Amino acid sequence: MNRRLFLTGMSTLGLPALAPPELAHAAGQLALGATLGVDWGLAFADQDGDLAPAPMKRMSGACPAALAGSLYRNGPGKFRRPGGSAAHWFDGDGLIRAFRIRDGEATLAARFVDTPKRRADAAANAVITPGFGTLGRPGAKAGSADDANPANIAVMPVAGDLWALWEGGSPTVVNAADLSTRGVRTLRPDLAHMPFLAHPKAEPDGDIWNLGVMGDKALVWRLGRDGALVSAETIDLPCASYVHDFSATERWLIVVLQPLIHDKTTLPYIDGFTWRPNEPTRILVLDKADLGSRRIYELPAFFAFHFGPAWAEPDGTIRFDACASADPTFATRGAREVLKGDWTPTPPPALALITLSPDGQGRIERSQVAAEFPRNDPAFSGWPRAMTVHATGDGATPLFHGLATYNWSTHRSDVFDFGPAHLVEEAVFTPRPGSAGELKGWLLVPTVNLVSKATELHVFDAGRLSDGPLCTWRADVALPVSLHGAFVAA
Ligand SMILES: [Fe+2]
Repeated sequence: MNRRLFLTGMSTLGLPALAPPELAHAAGQLALGATLGVDWGLAFADQDGDLAPAPMKRMSGACPAALAGSLYRNGPGKFRRPGGSAAHWFDGDGLIRAFRIRDGEATLAARFVDTPKRRADAAANAVITPGFGTLGRPGAKAGSADDANPANIAVMPVAGDLWALWEGGSPTVVNAADLSTRGVRTLRPDLAHMPFLAHPKAEPDGDIWNLGVMGDKALVWRLGRDGALVSAETIDLPCASYVHDFSATERWLIVVLQPLIHDKTTLPYIDGFTWRPNEPTRILVLDKADLGSRRIYELPAFFAFHFGPAWAEPDGTIRFDACASADPTFATRGAREVLKGDWTPTPPPALALITLSPDGQGRIERSQVAAEFPRNDPAFSGWPRAMTVHATGDGATPLFHGLATYNWSTHRSDVFDFGPAHLVEEAVFTPRPGSAGELKGWLLVPTVNLVSKATELHVFDAGRLSDGPLCTWRADVALPVSLHGAFVAA
């Protein structure tokens, strides 16, 4: 496995065959992933405690002189306890990592978010708290969603602090300096414990928009740059879809409602959803200035966790990118299997461009580029842009082993394949000081080196990925693979 699966996966998705130059390029870049079996289980192992700040060893290259700051990341880090374990990757305790770069060198620290869930599970010596894909056990407290909140998906810098984000409950505030937990942030007393997605969208002026989804209702959150609540309005959705992310322009909020519908009261939570491939993926477009003003588009069914920021063209056409799969197999099966050390080869999601025309017609154009964890240059969020940064792989083993950018104008990829020894996490972009133009700067990307059994941090010139990393550091330990991060320049 393998390139054949990669290509077979494309045909499963109904994607066109790769054009010859791209085929040669992709095959060359991905060939390494097919040649060596490695134990990827390390990336889903337990981290048993906090990690005090420690220097990382520089393995190669030199850190750009102007690069300094902290890469914060979040992701599940503790899954198993003697009396019972989590059954789904998304149900591990939130572990905040801080890679700090200063004077050309790097350190790594990690600290668990001190949540009621983690305290309850630790006291019981078992994972008793129910989760996204994990049944609860006797003794679990279920007074509110925040009793089950693992604070484990993303991290957002807000006014000098970090907010550790889940999607079913409140943000949890973390001290950015020592990663200690300050506590759950209640944005308004009557909205305590309400859902708050892990992918808020910041506007250029700093206002932060987010959703909290409850069946066929959603809360539309608007916060100031200081994290104070500006408004919260409840809206009706056309269906009770699973929503992990959304998109936005300067004027519009764009909510993708895929036909993974919450229609049963079964537990765990994800088992209450039914995939209905014969129903459309609906896209709800809301005017930020008047949430009662809405348009709904219908596209063929697809599943996606993540979307890029949208932009509007002069004639009103809205475009945005997605990492689209044929179905939600990873959410429902793959992310369970990985905790047991199992993996059924699965076609990876592929980049797709969604176009919403003013005449009410929508369409999705699926590329042949395997992609997840899309990121972009935040200076271009909400505005026309050409580039998407993403992880890439072949689906033969869990997650990804390549880092790539895709240019929507030229339809060309720039790829670096770390090979089968590495499991690649989401990359985060930071601009080179004084630079102008899209994606002029660096990408910071951790990997779990499965052979060296260590977490690594790599710095790339975002415009020259295939040249390889400018600099690589290695920690003394391997932390479990993380989900999402943010960089705060020094
Ligand atoms: Fe996410």
